[in-house]
Amino acid sequence: MLTEETYFRLINYASKAPSLHNTQPWKFGREEDAILLYPDLSRSLPVVDPDNHALFISLGCTLENLVVAAGHYGFDTTVEVRRGRIDDPLRVKLSPLPPLPDGAHAKYSALFAQIKPRQVTKGTYKEDTLDRDTAGKIREIPVEPGTNVRLILPGEESEKLLPLVVEGSDRQFGNKAFVRELVDWLRFNEKEAIKKGDGIWNATMGLPATGRAIGSFIMKRLVTPRSEAKRWKKLFRKSAGFVLFSVAQHDPEHWIRLGRSFQRFGLETTAMGLKHAHMNMPLEEELVREKVSGAFDLGEMMPLLLLRIGYADPGPYSFRRNLYEMIAQQHGQA
Ligand SMILES: Cc1cc2nc3c(=O)[nH]c(=O)nc-3n(C[C@H](O)[C@H](O)[C@H](O)COP(=O)(O)O)c2cc1C
Repeated sequence: MLTEETYFRLINYASKAPSLHNTQPWKFGREEDAILLYPDLSRSLPVVDPDNHALFISLGCTLENLVVAAGHYGFDTTVEVRRGRIDDPLRVKLSPLPPLPDGAHAKYSALFAQIKPRQVTKGTYKEDTLDRDTAGKIREIPVEPGTNVRLILPGEESEKLLPLVVEGSDRQFGNKAFVRELVDWLRFNEKEAIKKGDGIWNATMGLPATGRAIGSFIMKRLVTPRSEAKRWKKLFRKSAGFVLFSVAQHDPEHWIRLGRSFQRFGLETTAMGLKHAHMNMPLEEELVREKVSGAFDLGEMMPLLLLRIGYADPGPYSFRRNLYEMIAQQHGQA
């Protein structure tokens, strides 16, 4: 029997997951012995994510947090994927684990301890490089079936990435609809960020607070493909490595699995003292994505997330909406 207290405790940890533009595109429901996890399609991003793959990756991140938190609080989980309608929920069945000897929960608890400290750190990283031991540990992080994670260290191979990052960024910042959608999800000052509880707060990108009118003007008129390319080149050069996440099949089930692999990576690397941030632009533009596949010989695998990793001080943390706004109506989703 899942008590109300445990339900809220678990969904609170689940909601700390990352999501594209911090849209938090999920809703939770409760059954006697299960938590339901719905995709919230009302929070989709039609320009940057027209097929909703990033939405389902975000849902997978929430699922991973939920499974880790449930393990920490003494529940075994079985995840049931329903393959009917696109907005059908995942059902996470919880069964109390028998009392375990001390330390048997260590696997979950070590990851659980990273749920709150984890963040996407969007600033410039320090010069420090990855040592061999850390690179080895990163390569050993387990991934979900049908997903692949590839660590690319700075060098000849990573040089193939930079022009593709710039090409993706050029296309996006040359597209007015992309910039409009982004501006809708930017929170230009703390008041706005707290009030909405979602979106990308300027401070997380190291930018000063402004009013919405001034912020929108800067984004729409002063930020150009050229200024963005310059910014990305600098961030790229200060990275200790890059990580490419791919799926074997381009469907919601694999996107969710990729989200789980990515979130596990985020929790494990946070424990190692590493930071990460997205550089997805080449993968959000289909034509450029194909070039990435070709450059890295990915064959049938479809690359969907690209990260830079490195060392940095933590930035400000993003806000989340009130949990009550994330609860689905009792019968079907709101
Ligand atoms: C599927 C996915 C795609 C993302 N894409 C980007 C991106 O292109 N650029 C970026 O700066 N952050 C990206 N993010 C990170 C989000 O902006 C970040 O998770 C969100 O703002 C919440 O912040 P937090 O993860 O630090 O809690 C992405 C996150 C996810 C899950």
